[in-house]
Amino acid sequence: MLLLCLMSGPAFTQMNSSTPHQLLPVPARFEFREGRLAVTKAFTVAVKGHQDERLIAGIDRAMRRLEGRIAFELPRGLARDAATATLLIECQGPGKKVPAIDEDESYSLEVTDRQAALKAATVVGALRGLETLLQLLESDRDQAFLRAASIQDQPRFPWRGLMIDSSRHFQPLEIIKRNLDGMAAVKLNVLHWHLTDDQGFRVESRKYPKLHLSGSDGNFYTQDQIRDVIAYATARGIRVIPEFDMPGHATSWLVGHPELGSAPGPYQIERQPGIFDPALDPTREEVYKLLDGFLGEMAALFPDDYIHIGGDENEGKQWDSKPQIQAFKKAKGLKSNHELQAYFNQRIAQILKKHGRKMIGWDEILHPDLPKDTVIQSWRGPASLVEAARKGFRGILSAGYYLDLMHPASAHYGADPIAADSGLNEQQLALILGGEAAMWSEYVSPETIDSRLWPRTAAIAERLWSPRSVTDTDDLYRRMAVISQQLEELGLTHQRNIPVLLRRLTGGGDIQPLRTLLAAVEPVKNYNRGRQHPTTMLSPLTSLVDAAQADAPAARRLAALVDGLLSDAPGFQANQAALRALLSEWRDLPPAIESLHNRSAALRDADSLARDLSAAASAGLEALSFLAGGTAPAPEWREAKLATLSQAAKPRDALEIVIIPALRQLVIAAAELPQLRTSSPGDWLKRVKTLAAEKVPETRR
Ligand code: ACM
Repeated sequence: MLLLCLMSGPAFTQMNSSTPHQLLPVPARFEFREGRLAVTKAFTVAVKGHQDERLIAGIDRAMRRLEGRIAFELPRGLARDAATATLLIECQGPGKKVPAIDEDESYSLEVTDRQAALKAATVVGALRGLETLLQLLESDRDQAFLRAASIQDQPRFPWRGLMIDSSRHFQPLEIIKRNLDGMAAVKLNVLHWHLTDDQGFRVESRKYPKLHLSGSDGNFYTQDQIRDVIAYATARGIRVIPEFDMPGHATSWLVGHPELGSAPGPYQIERQPGIFDPALDPTREEVYKLLDGFLGEMAALFPDDYIHIGGDENEGKQWDSKPQIQAFKKAKGLKSNHELQAYFNQRIAQILKKHGRKMIGWDEILHPDLPKDTVIQSWRGPASLVEAARKGFRGILSAGYYLDLMHPASAHYGADPIAADSGLNEQQLALILGGEAAMWSEYVSPETIDSRLWPRTAAIAERLWSPRSVTDTDDLYRRMAVISQQLEELGLTHQRNIPVLLRRLTGGGDIQPLRTLLAAVEPVKNYNRGRQHPTTMLSPLTSLVDAAQADAPAARRLAALVDGLLSDAPGFQANQAALRALLSEWRDLPPAIESLHNRSAALRDADSLARDLSAAASAGLEALSFLAGGTAPAPEWREAKLATLSQAAKPRDALEIVIIPALRQLVIAAAELPQLRTSSPGDWLKRVKTLAAEKVPETRR
């Protein structure tokens, strides 16, 4: 009985959560055991039960990655003797021919000091298990080994996606492929490929070649390339859902086919970010005729059950200004543009049905008259997901998972597809299929896209795979640092391209001062970048902001040091030296940055950032000295230092110093020293945090 209790669900996971491990996403149930399975030159793999090309290729990829980490060669091919194989894989069957939403992705993994046994009902389940196996690899001085463990795993949600926008900035094939590898590493299973928008029509249409030839500057995927991507994704158990955004976000369709538009044109490929007026004309039969032909062609190309029709942000301005469209609305009794768009969507749903496809669209498409198998993708807020479920529609969450908004991983991790207070009943809850991270590409180039995707996408992948109870953010960051390194072996450039950008910015100078600066600096959040540092789709994305990360490398560390320092007297002693060292580096930074700027005009904004960071760090160091010396500063000191910090907190050129809240805590703690001395040490931190939270200019951390 006791054992059964331990084996069931979250309690079992929790029991082991204190054991540091490297699994990401955290499995549904797991237990680490005593012992380890050595990875030696005699490491062999055997397969029992079903085997096919996809499984064998998946095993081969995993073994090559294992070899890369241990730096010696392992035997090739499969071993015959299941009993003596180091890794025994038992797969019951192939699973779905085309990856589908009801694929069984579960697996179990038992690692003892004799053997690793991976069991799965399907090949995709086995592939998921192989990723976990690779995450069990550790090493000491003498030997690499897999930790002994017992794992039973399956996803919490069946739809765990990543949307990549190839329209705003075209992303060449190898970028899509390496990100499919990254997705597989964290057990994501849907690539939602945003292929058309105002700024580019990125898929070859043999039926209507003017679409891609006029709408893409020559940057489109050929149908052979699309098939190649689908095969690559299928090999990794990943569905590929194309999005053809309509009726709005449609300028690129109209460059070659102005007759589809709701205004005469001519049209040009849009170069700016934003929301634009051009929209398909929902009143014209020629429009449906072309869409029937095009979507039929795409249904033959993309095997997934679903095609995404976009449907977002159509403001209907062209519709409002065309008398024939107004007359059509009147004749059909359509009272609003939303109703006209719902009419359009129903026509599209019929076309998709004819071609054997179901519809998915952004949450604007929600309308009771749509077929009930339509999936609603919630982006404007989680409320639309709840509303869709109440109306009987299935849905996925993307609100909270927009990577382009440049929020830290912790923010995405906190967004759950099912809010605790959703008020939905069991039947409605079952309609929530999962979620998708969204990588809109107005501000990412092929050079920077990986650094915006990774490792934050891993946090979203865990939210969608792991039990709801897995919510420890510090532990997520610990494991994300590990997986971030592992993702590099797949060719992802999220880490390595940052020095590439910095070297170019410095014209070959020493990049270390810039790394020190960016350790405390992040790109501004939400859509403030476009306001502060306007760029078009043709601009180079090679500025300092492009090398800054959504999680500034030292920000969490600094906040933890300050927390530790202010927690009690031993905490003060334990954290003082490290905090002083970190702040001193920032204090001393300006001359090095200035000398880099002297050789590179592209670093024009780095000086002021470095000076303000230096002043802020100096304020922190002064506070630390007061706290260490036990003397209180003069009353004016507090206001002067808080003013210094407020100045430093001001964003510039789309960058902001993000360590200010922690420094405010230090300054306030020093100013409050006389009172702190009389309160019990345990209460310091609480009191200081309360005071520091008042009028904090940036309150995120
Ligand atoms: C969207 O972000 N417009 C779906």
